[in-house]
Amino acid sequence: MQPAMDATPKSRPIIHNLLFLSLLFSSNLLTYLISTTSYSSRFLHSTITDSAPPTITLPSTVHQEYHQSSSESKSSAEIELLPEFLALTSQQKLPFGFNPNFGADFILPPVGRPCTQFPDELNRYMSYQVNGSCPDDERLAQKLLLKGCEPLPRRRCRPAAPGEYVEPYSVPESYWKIPPDSSVVWTAYSCKNYTCLVNRVRNQKAFDDCKDCFDLQGPEKGRWVGPNTKSNLNFTIDEVLAVKKPGTIRIGLDIGGGVGTFAVRMAERNVTIVTTSINLNGPFNNFIASRGVIPLYMTISQRLPFFDNTLDIIHSMHVLSNWIPTTLLNFLLFDIYRVLRPGGIFWLDHFFCVGDQMEQVYIPLIETIGFTKVKWAVGRKLDRGPELREMYLSAVLEKPLKNSW
Ligand SMILES: *[C@@H]1O[C@H](CO)[C@@H](O)[C@H](O)[C@H]1NC(C)=O
Ligand SMILES: *[C@@H]1O[C@H](CO)[C@@H](O)[C@H](O)[C@H]1NC(C)=O
Ligand SMILES: *[C@@H]1O[C@H](CO)[C@@H](O)[C@H](O)[C@H]1NC(C)=O
Ligand SMILES: *[C@@H]1O[C@H](CO)[C@@H](O)[C@H](O)[C@H]1NC(C)=O
Repeated sequence: MQPAMDATPKSRPIIHNLLFLSLLFSSNLLTYLISTTSYSSRFLHSTITDSAPPTITLPSTVHQEYHQSSSESKSSAEIELLPEFLALTSQQKLPFGFNPNFGADFILPPVGRPCTQFPDELNRYMSYQVNGSCPDDERLAQKLLLKGCEPLPRRRCRPAAPGEYVEPYSVPESYWKIPPDSSVVWTAYSCKNYTCLVNRVRNQKAFDDCKDCFDLQGPEKGRWVGPNTKSNLNFTIDEVLAVKKPGTIRIGLDIGGGVGTFAVRMAERNVTIVTTSINLNGPFNNFIASRGVIPLYMTISQRLPFFDNTLDIIHSMHVLSNWIPTTLLNFLLFDIYRVLRPGGIFWLDHFFCVGDQMEQVYIPLIETIGFTKVKWAVGRKLDRGPELREMYLSAVLEKPLKNSW
């Protein structure tokens, strides 16, 4: 294995291709992806330090668009894309020629359209030795992801991994046991072990997302099962499952599911739940996986990676809230409706916003999607003080069994 490389592009003469594109134009990534087979055919033998520049020709329409947009945007930057990024995203010829399913004889491996709007970070991310070790750069990767560079570009290197990985506990012991510290690369987080994460609710002043979640013997233990469920906003899993015929809620998704406790509680009821999570100052994805349920590393911006009318249940607690831009939230709610099967359940758990926003913005936004209300509770959110006038909504919504289209 190679040591992790310095990921600062400015310090190294590795940029062979200079593509001068405005930032505005870069938001149109797919139109300038370039036909080059010479680079990709070099395959693994190329490294960034020894590779010759690939042949790059810009289609004439690209030049036109560039000139148009550059005249509008004085601050447009020169983007220098690394050869490794071009090798990934350039149009690649299909070995067997035209494919009628594609309607094309090429394939364009995708990255998030906004990636090239952050050329410095993107270039740092794509700076590595091909077939070597990737830099230990989780924080950089997640920043790009959160800004919309999603999916992140694939890389041809091996990710940072723990030196002495220990295999996981077996199920069901793994559901409620803190995994060994050696299952995680800790570089990206302020805590450097699970003891620190478990105790941070007591020892740490600063806010952190899901600050008390890693303590599986704390409030996490009672979520969705009680006994702490006196509030009318706290539905239990069993009362929600009882909405449907036994055994018909089998598969689903928890959006922004923290440490995966919802999925664990559902697994204990033989329901398979995939949990989306990012790693905000904690190894959430590793922890969820160590417990024995499936983490999906993606943000709330990305289209849900499921086909239409397939899932029995989607749950989300605290994550879908007023921090999400309204238009994005509207698209997201339609996406949830899309992947739920007819008769499927959307459990919107402790959605929150401020005062009048509930009546004026969010209830109309939710009602317009087309769900049937099964349970619906609005209440005050008091944990940060009544003067903030925060409100909660908890709802169980059903996609109509008939005429859901
Ligand atoms: C890629 O790296 C592996 C592991 O270091 C090595 O065994 C292999 O020979 C390398 N392949 C090439 C084509 O350099
Ligand atoms: C965990 O990390 C903290 C610092 O974050 C350190 O003080 C403590 O000794 C570590 N504990 C263990 C068990 O490694
Ligand atoms: C609702 O459930 C959460 C998590 O289990 C708990 O912390 C909270 O105290 C409950 N609220 C009430 C009013 O019971
Ligand atoms: C889960 O499935 C197993 C095996 O089919 C069964 O023995 C068990 O009773 C089920 N548990 C629940 C809570 O339904």
